Amino acid sequence: KKKIAIITSGGDAPGMNAAVRAVTRAGIFYGCKVYACYEGYTGLVKGGDMLKELQWQDVRGLLSIGGTIIGTARCKEFRERWGRLQACYNMVSNGIDALVVCGGDGSLTGADLFRKEWPELIKELLGEDKITKEQYETHRNLTIVGLVGSIDNDMCGTDSTIGAYSSLERIIELVDYIDATAASHSRAFVVEVMGRHCGWLGLMSGIATGADYIFIPERPPSESNWKDDLKKVCLRHREKGRRKTTVIVAEGAIDDQLNPITSEEVKDVLVEIGLDTRITRLGHVQRGGAPCAFDRFLATVQGVDAVRAVLESTPAIPSPVISILENKIVRQPLVESVAQTKTVSAAIEAKDFDKALQLRDQEFAT
Ligand code: F6P
Repeated sequence: KKKIAIITSGGDAPGMNAAVRAVTRAGIFYGCKVYACYEGYTGLVKGGDMLKELQWQDVRGLLSIGGTIIGTARCKEFRERWGRLQACYNMVSNGIDALVVCGGDGSLTGADLFRKEWPELIKELLGEDKITKEQYETHRNLTIVGLVGSIDNDMCGTDSTIGAYSSLERIIELVDYIDATAASHSRAFVVEVMGRHCGWLGLMSGIATGADYIFIPERPPSESNWKDDLKKVCLRHREKGRRKTTVIVAEGAIDDQLNPITSEEVKDVLVEIGLDTRITRLGHVQRGGAPCAFDRFLATVQGVDAVRAVLESTPAIPSPVISILENKIVRQPLVESVAQTKTVSAAIEAKDFDKALQLRDQEFAT
């Protein structure tokens, strides 16, 4: 019987609970034991009570609940080699053969590093007599399967991360509310949305709400004239009779010289053209609430496939990340998705913005 641990790591995302439910139930269905690893990688580093077997009924009713009931964290200890060695020990001593990690870019990068280091870590534990020869032989290879859970939709190799569409729904609902008061007072609103270094939430919410202007990191405006362009566009819309102005600023927005563009700067420009302007930072409401139908579905089918991937894994198959591409659930090598995601930041730093958009599969924004 395989023992699989499920971890949710990094920023929580709506749909993570649905993933925990799916992995638990698919695992039990296929005859495995499934363990919750509490508080992200912290549970793996600390072991003990933070690793607990889950039964079928423990995950009842989770589909519609936001966040993650097994907790999440950005674990500092796991970034250190000693923390990963401790995690390796706790896995082997509890007989855990495989990890399913649901998290974003950072969490999956950590998973990939752990997988790479595993042979050395387990050898070290054997050398120090912390594990038996038999445990060493049984656990020589680590199976890790990634599920991409993040509101940011910032991972390459998948069309959507678990949580992104729920967050997008939340944002557009809130922008619709803002639009009503903006139009009533004939005001301008600068709406700042999350996404870290990725503009997906900004771009999609801007399109879905018909914003006047959108600032995202992958399509930065020119340092020398973005303010004039913003004024021109917003004034043109006003001249056509629009009674409100909505500007979406992704939190990672920059200009083409990589200077950050802040909501305050944008507000100052709008004030210069005579608009009564307010800033609304949507903040963590973007991460809360019930997952939308798509995220419940995605987390469920991907969670089931994660368990199948564990059962089908062999040392020759690289650890996969479960993705969705053109409406199909597919497995990609984890190492490749992590590497490709890093190339987006590199393209932005090199000011190759077309490449950054292309890597994010958002060429339509050009
Ligand atoms: O990665 C998810 C995310 O919500 C980002 O969009 C945002 O930059 C960050 O996490 C906020 O992190 P915290 O919850 O630690 O403030």
